[in-house]
Parts: sequence; structure tokens; C-alpha cells
Amino acid sequence: MSGEPLVVLTSVNKHFGSLHVLRDIDLTIHKGEVVVILGPSGSGKSTLCRAINRLEPIGSGTITIDGVPLPEEGRALANLRADVGMVFQSFNLFAHKTVLENITLGPTKVRKVPAAQARTRAMELLERVGVANQADKYPAQLSGGQQQRVAIARALAMDPKVILFDEPTSALDPEMVNEVLDVMVTLARGGMTMVVVTHEMGFARKAADRVVFMADGQIVEENTPAEFFTNPTTTRAQDFLSKILSH
Ligand SMILES: Nc1ncnc2c1ncn2[C@@H]1O[C@H](COP(=O)(O)OP(=O)(O)OP(=O)(O)O)[C@@H](O)[C@H]1O
Ligand SMILES: [Mg+2]
Repeated sequence: MSGEPLVVLTSVNKHFGSLHVLRDIDLTIHKGEVVVILGPSGSGKSTLCRAINRLEPIGSGTITIDGVPLPEEGRALANLRADVGMVFQSFNLFAHKTVLENITLGPTKVRKVPAAQARTRAMELLERVGVANQADKYPAQLSGGQQQRVAIARALAMDPKVILFDEPTSALDPEMVNEVLDVMVTLARGGMTMVVVTHEMGFARKAADRVVFMADGQIVEENTPAEFFTNPTTTRAQDFLSKILSH
């Protein structure tokens, strides 16, 4: 957490029509920091993640990655996206490419890594997430947990500066949740900078440096997980925690 600022949002606002979904968001994520974003449905968590790699343009304010403002478009934007990995709830693997091809595509096309080198690295990463034996299969032939681990390996293959995870385990059958969370905990402990939207409080307690709680498009409260879970200070956070911790 003591690292330098990596992702800096300053007075970020975003509307969808008349709906004000991000309200004056100020948030700094430091190198090596793991930030878990919590909040009720519709509070703007996904929009915030999508804004950070410009899948959603913002209305006002600034977002910088490693000191560089988000590019509007073109090659600069492609390069920025390569620096900001994203793992979604729905895996989003390319269905018509093998697991191995899914991982080598970005490095060869965007980073211009030679094919053989990209393959070697991809196999190392698949090994790391425990699915090296699935390299020649197609995504549909894998379990959800395996697909999500491939998605994490694909993000890692670009050597991103930060990885954004938007509810990476929400679409998984319960018995597969832990195999994905274990990979994420290992990444977090290895020093990867991570922004994680999740309802998995166990992950937040184990791996997060900071919990950011959002409601109605605003950051309402932020604290260490230990403090946040035991002493939430706002009524919004208290209500939210009593709902999720009671089932
Ligand atoms: N493309 C869009 N067009 C219009 N409204 C949108 C769009 N995407 C999101 N919204 C609205 O913006 C608000 C914030 O949505 P967002 O998906 O960021 O919430 P969230 O906190 O991720 O919720 P959840 O926990 O359900 O995933 C919601 O009211 C949502 O309906
Ligand atoms: Mg969401």
C-alpha cells in the first residue's frame, strides 16, 4: 500500500441520461495495492471499473494511469488497455480460439511478442493458474472455474500494471469459487495491483488492503477490511453489511 499512485481518479462524474451514476469520485490506487469495491446493486461499481479502462467514457473529471491521462481512442487507447487487465463475471474468452490462443493473441498482436515466446509464457501462466493440461481445448470444453482461471492468465499475459476484476466468481457454481479466489489471493500476495468488485467477504478479509464502499454513485466509506467489517461508520455501510453477512 505504500507504493506510488498508479490509478488516480479525480472528481469523476458520469451520467447515463438523467441518472448520475458516478458522483465526484476521488480515488487513488497505489502500486501493489489490493482494493475491494463493495456496494449495493446499481451503486456504480461496474461503471467505475469500466471507466478505468475507458470501456465507458466519463462526463467530467480525470483518470490517470501511472501519471498518463486516459487516451480517447486509437493506438494509445489500445496500449492503455493492455496496461489495465480486466476480468469479467462472464469470462469473455474467445469461443473459437483454443485456451492457448486466447492467451497468446494479445501479447502477439498488441505487444508484438514473437509467437514462440508468447506460447512459452502462456504455458507458464496456465501452469500457474492450474489449467496447463487444458491448453488445446476450446473454452466451452472447460468448467466455469477453469475458464475464469484462463481469463486471469489472459490478463496476466499482457503484463498489466493493474487488473480490474468485476465480480469474477459471481457466475460460478459454488464449488468452483474457491479455485478462482485462491489464484486471486496468490496474485494479491505476489504484489499485483488489483481492483476487485466482489461479494466474497472472505477474499476481502484475506487479501484486501482497503475496502471502498459505494452507494448511489458515491464513495461513502473506505477503510481497512478489519475496520470496515467490524466498525462500519455510515448507516449505508451498516445496512449493507447486515444484509450480506446475515445469509
Ligand atoms: N449502459 C447503461 N445505460 C444506462 N444505464 C446504465 C448502463 N450501465 C449501467 N447503468 C445504470 O447505472 C447504474 C450503475 O450501474 P453499475 O452496473 O455500475 O452498478 P453495479 O454497482 O455494478 O451493480 P451490480 O452490483 O448489480 O453489478 C445502475 O442504475 C444501472 O442501471
Ligand atoms: Mg456490476
